[in-house]
Amino acid sequence: MTDPAPLPRVPLAGVIGHPVAHSKSPALFRHWLDTYQLPGHYVPLHVRPDDLETALATLPKLGFVGANVTIPHKQRALELANVVSDRAALIGAANTLIFRQDGAVHADNTDGYGFVENLRRNAPDWDPEVGPALVLGAGGAARAILASLIDAGVPRIVLSNRTRSRADGLAEEFGRHIDVVEWVQAAGEIGDAALIVNTTSLGMTGKEPLRMKLDALHPGQLVTDIVYAPLRTRLLEEAAAAGCRTVDGLGMLLYQAVPGFERWFGVKPEVTDATRAAVLA
Ligand code: ATR
Repeated sequence: MTDPAPLPRVPLAGVIGHPVAHSKSPALFRHWLDTYQLPGHYVPLHVRPDDLETALATLPKLGFVGANVTIPHKQRALELANVVSDRAALIGAANTLIFRQDGAVHADNTDGYGFVENLRRNAPDWDPEVGPALVLGAGGAARAILASLIDAGVPRIVLSNRTRSRADGLAEEFGRHIDVVEWVQAAGEIGDAALIVNTTSLGMTGKEPLRMKLDALHPGQLVTDIVYAPLRTRLLEEAAAAGCRTVDGLGMLLYQAVPGFERWFGVKPEVTDATRAAVLA
C-alpha cells in the first residue's frame, strides 16, 4: 500500500512554562494570526522541569516549528539546544526555540531585542550613545537588558541591586561598561542618568513598591520599567510628573515575540494599539 499524500502542514508553536496559564503569549500570537489571517496555532504548553528534555525531543515530531520558553525553563532550554545564538549564549538563557526539520533545536534570546525595540519605537529620539544608563536589578531580565544596552552602544552603565554580589557578578561578566553602586546609593545616581531602567519586580501588582527616592528625576531623561502590571508604576508616574519621557514595560513583552512569530508564521508582525489591547484584555 502506498503512503497517502501528506496532509498540508499548519504551523504549530507554543509557549513552554511551569506554570504557563498566566502567559500573555497565546493571546498575543492569536491576535497576530488573526490580524494577518494566517493558518497556524499557538498554544500554552505546561511542561514540568523533569519533562523539558522529552518535550523538546517530541514537539518537532508533532509538527511544532518552535516555541517560546518561560520560567523556569530558560536556562535549561539553552543547555538542551543543539545550536545557540550569540545573544542567547551571552545572556545564558533562551526564550525562543526554533525546531528544525531534522530535529535540531536552535536557541535564541530576544528579550534584549524586545527591550531596545520598545525604547526605539516609543522614544524615537533616544540616543543610546548618550549615557549613562542606570539599571536597577541584577536578575535574569537585567542580564538580557545589559547585553542589549551594551550592544546598542550605551557608553556607561551604572548597575545597582539589593544583593550587591549579583551586580558584581554581572559587571565582571560584561566588562568595562558597568560600574556597580550599593542599592542604598542608587537614588544618588538618578540625576546623572540619561536612561533609567527598573528590571526588578518591585512595583508589580502584589509585590512591594520601589521605595527609592526619585526627586532627582528631571526633563530630558528616559525612564522605563519592565513591570507591566500595572502599566503605570510609581517609577513611571513620578518620572512623567517630573517631565521625563516614559516607556512602559508591555512593549518589551510584545517586541520580544516578533522574531519568533516571523520565523514560525512567515510575517513580521506590527505592534499596534490593537496588539496592546489584545494582550491586556
Ligand atoms: P528576573 O529573572 O525576572 O529578573 P530574578 O532573577 O528573581 O527575576 O530577579 C529579580 C530582581 O528583583 C533581582 O534584582 C532582585 O534583587 P536580589 O538579587 O537582591 O534578589 C530584585 N528584587 C526582588 N525583590 C526585591 C526587593 N524587595 N527589594 C529590592 N530588589 C528586589
